[in-house]
Amino acid sequence: MSSEEISRLPYLDEDLELEKRVDDLLGRMTLEEKIKVLAGKMFFFTKTIKRLGLKSFKMTDGPHGVGALGTYFKKKTTYFPVAICRASTWNLELSEQFGQALAEEVRAVGRHMILGPAINIHRTPLCGRTFEYQTEDPYLNSELAVAVVKGVQSKRIAACIKHYVGNNQEKWRFNVSSEIDERTLREIYLPAFEASVKNADVWSVMACYNKVNGVHGCENKDILMEKLINDFGFQGFIVSDWFATKFTTTEGCMKAGLSLEMPYRNVYKKAKILEALKSSQITEEILNDRVRRLLRVMFLVGMFDNKEKIPEGSLGTPEHIQIAKKIAEEGIVLLKNENNILPLDISQIKKIAVLGPNANKKFAFSGGSSMIRSIYEVTPLAGLKNKCKNKIEFVNLPSEADVAIVFAGLNHSKNMDTENSDRLTLDLSSSQIDLIKNTVKNNSNTIVVLLNGSPIAMSDWIKDVPAVIEAWYPGLEGGNVIADILFGDVNPSGKLPITFPKKLEDSPAHKSERTYPGIKESINNSKPLKKVFYDEGIFVGYRHFDKNNIEPLFPFGYGLSYTTFKYENLKIKKAEISKNDKIEISVDITNTGNRKGAEIMQIYINDCECSAERPPKELKAFKKVFLEPGEKQTINFELDPNILSFFDPKSNKWIIESGKFKVLVASSSRDIKLEGEIDYIE
Ligand code: BGC
Repeated sequence: MSSEEISRLPYLDEDLELEKRVDDLLGRMTLEEKIKVLAGKMFFFTKTIKRLGLKSFKMTDGPHGVGALGTYFKKKTTYFPVAICRASTWNLELSEQFGQALAEEVRAVGRHMILGPAINIHRTPLCGRTFEYQTEDPYLNSELAVAVVKGVQSKRIAACIKHYVGNNQEKWRFNVSSEIDERTLREIYLPAFEASVKNADVWSVMACYNKVNGVHGCENKDILMEKLINDFGFQGFIVSDWFATKFTTTEGCMKAGLSLEMPYRNVYKKAKILEALKSSQITEEILNDRVRRLLRVMFLVGMFDNKEKIPEGSLGTPEHIQIAKKIAEEGIVLLKNENNILPLDISQIKKIAVLGPNANKKFAFSGGSSMIRSIYEVTPLAGLKNKCKNKIEFVNLPSEADVAIVFAGLNHSKNMDTENSDRLTLDLSSSQIDLIKNTVKNNSNTIVVLLNGSPIAMSDWIKDVPAVIEAWYPGLEGGNVIADILFGDVNPSGKLPITFPKKLEDSPAHKSERTYPGIKESINNSKPLKKVFYDEGIFVGYRHFDKNNIEPLFPFGYGLSYTTFKYENLKIKKAEISKNDKIEISVDITNTGNRKGAEIMQIYINDCECSAERPPKELKAFKKVFLEPGEKQTINFELDPNILSFFDPKSNKWIIESGKFKVLVASSSRDIKLEGEIDYIE
């Protein structure tokens, strides 16, 4: 066919319905061609079919900016703050804007899909990818994921949520089996994936490396076909994590629902698929469905449409930089501020000492597949210098300074917040602990600023340090934002999306080797199987700390401000509700300080009477409220009664039992401001 003839084919008709275009194209493909598109080439691309004008579908990492690998290190892109920092903003609008900006950058580098957001639950603070993931809480995780996916896909770029599912540690990630019971999967690990499908129609899901209950992610029929596709109604396509099909079979992957094998052909080799068809292990209908799903997304991202109709891309624009900056401003968390030592008054300080290994360190180009070649990156030291130019002298010795600032934390090197290895300890390195202790000894006005992507133990030193800031890895403008927060140009408003334990043993996954990193089981001298048992069940994160009355170092949902807030006047419109009602809540909040600021109001629910064990509290709603000094606002929530439900594995359903529920209005999971009650009547 000439290119002229091709251009008149129905699937290229932009006015034709999507499904018809897909059907038309699929109907024209030979069996060989179908097989050809189901596996990758050049690490991030699919194969082309010239005869039909089918170009390469192109992907890139992910998740906090267009990754360096995906552009073969050729492009400089915007380095946004990492996901745990974005999650700390609790700002859904900002997550959606981030999604849009990210998609524009993906388009600008000529790709169609971003390999993100990464939405595995924070189960252990040691997980090497905690920085890439959002939170320990399934509700917050879902809301944030939906916002990002919507933002990305509004620009006709595919989002690919990963790593589905139970990939909660990097240690043994290629072959460990995450042993998770059904209720725990449904209540903790699946919700963000489910919400991304149901509320954001996500176009792609990446299947994990690990096994879930004995079966590898890419061929796990239960989690892919039964739950994702049949139960949640996923319409998009499933892609393997890179090389994750290594220990799987053609038939297994095909039947489970895997469409695209990346980065290269292994189980989807032509001979293997033909053999599976010949021996009736799979049918052509199954094959067609897997191809169809991929083609459909190719249409959605506009691969067959006139370029003018597709949203334009852009790279490193002032708007993108502004979004990155805003995420840092709202995501950095003020952990401690004794005697209001912060914010610093620039007119009162003459000398400042800046110390610590992270003071002048850049983080973009590290951490694993999420690494970025950033257009630029402002380090904390550079940010301070920008701010203090001609105003404050920088000295080396804390004893000679009015204020000493130690920039400590981790750094994305092996075992320090990076892909493919977990951290080995919750503590800072001993040299950093010594540095902090010595600095405080020489200067009581010492501030510790942490740059890291996962919780750190601080019991060794925190009591002597008057102020601590959790800055995460705050993106390309991070250094400027840290300076803005230190000097009060920005009032911190971030809150922790993860509990900071005092010590590792307090953490739910660290009860024994069985629960982390797992144990090796060998049956009849066979090769040992690695299994990690999620024995804590649904009691992950604050659910565990609450249930077991363990005092965390800093609780989930915690973060300080330079102003203060007053909560009052909780009203619950109807105290007795049933399934067709809404739970209508209103709360007044006032900024009682003299700076503008933002508070994240959190609503937790506690089921007082239930036949199943339930967590003492579960986050079910939140709102970030921006208030001028003295300003008061009434915040309204309208909640669906389904938030009261739990998953009952016996009936395989979410159920709500009649009885009393407490409604907790809180500033953090450990700071309940107001309390009310509702009665659910069936
Ligand atoms: C990671 C994925 C990533 C992929 C492609 C894998 O090793 O687990 O998150 O998207 O590589 O770089």
